[in-house]
Amino acid sequence: MNYKIAVLDGDGIGPEICRGAIEVLEKVGKKFGHTFAFTHYPIGGCAIDECGTPLPERTVEGCLASDSVLLGAVGGYKWDNMPVDVRPEKGLLGIRKAMGLYSNIRPAKLWKSLVSASPLKYDIVKDGVEIIIVRELTGGIYFGERGKGGEGKEQYAWDTEKYSVYEIERIMKIACELALKRSRKVISVDKANVLESSRLWRKTVHEYAAKYYPEITVEDMLVDNTAMQIVKNPAQFDVVVTSNIFGDILSDEAAQVTGSIGMLASSSLGDGTRGLYEPIHGSAPDIAGKDIANPVATILAAAMMLRDSFSLTDEYRAIECAVESVLEEGYRTADIMKDGKTKVSGSRMAQLIAERI
Ligand code: IPM
Ligand code: MN
Repeated sequence: MNYKIAVLDGDGIGPEICRGAIEVLEKVGKKFGHTFAFTHYPIGGCAIDECGTPLPERTVEGCLASDSVLLGAVGGYKWDNMPVDVRPEKGLLGIRKAMGLYSNIRPAKLWKSLVSASPLKYDIVKDGVEIIIVRELTGGIYFGERGKGGEGKEQYAWDTEKYSVYEIERIMKIACELALKRSRKVISVDKANVLESSRLWRKTVHEYAAKYYPEITVEDMLVDNTAMQIVKNPAQFDVVVTSNIFGDILSDEAAQVTGSIGMLASSSLGDGTRGLYEPIHGSAPDIAGKDIANPVATILAAAMMLRDSFSLTDEYRAIECAVESVLEEGYRTADIMKDGKTKVSGSRMAQLIAERI
């Protein structure tokens, strides 16, 4: 098969980690008889510099004309003080919205060979950790009405958290489908003791699951308690469904529990098979261009693309196994380096993984 992949390298370490993922995909193509055609489009800070906007029209068109999209990362000090409409993050939020990607899946998995990289005590993580955060991605406070006014001490600003039944149901469906293939348990995270939007969230997820997924157990957990439970007993979590902002925060926390945010990938999907796949981490401008960034998250994002957009399960497994072998053989990038292991550059890491496909 032929697949058209739009690559949005973005800023900072974005181009180098995308290069690593492309190298691995090319090897998969050779091995399994697929061709991947990569077309690069600007997004984020580099798009601001090049075209005056973080999300040029041709980038949106290119993504919509592709079979799927691979993204590096956006942002950097250089654009930190730009007005809101020309900030790199606006490009990322814009492409999620333009492609209708309401469902963001962020698996936080503790790799066996990296247990010692977790900041948590061995006793807490010894049973393994695999938390799959299903984050609503095109609604809530990220996209709600906002505004500002007043002056001096009276100056104010506001954002709105708003969710409709329709939005809650469609993300709950994704969580339930995932849970069916796993523990059949979904933990829904909200702040229903305070927020009206959370009370609707809670009511809707229960009604929806009871009606369409009676075999799924739905448990509620308040977001503050969830933040605590993730470090207290991460093994209790399997599939977690939550709003845009809570998912943003909890996925960073869950990622850190697994040792390095440099290892975690995410998929963003809508109703079709075209998705956007990216590492969970940011553009790390402080280490850009030094070839020390860990490319594994982006390589695993590419693997998720093969599985979730193209239904290439064997190819997905091949990448996952290659990553596992390289880790077991003791190769580490700087972020996960430990005594007695072999430190390698980002590009070497990608090469080692490609060689094991
Ligand atoms: C993420 C990031 C983005 C988000 C930013 C860069 C807009 O933190 O993907 O988690 O908040 O969604
Ligand atoms: Mn985030």
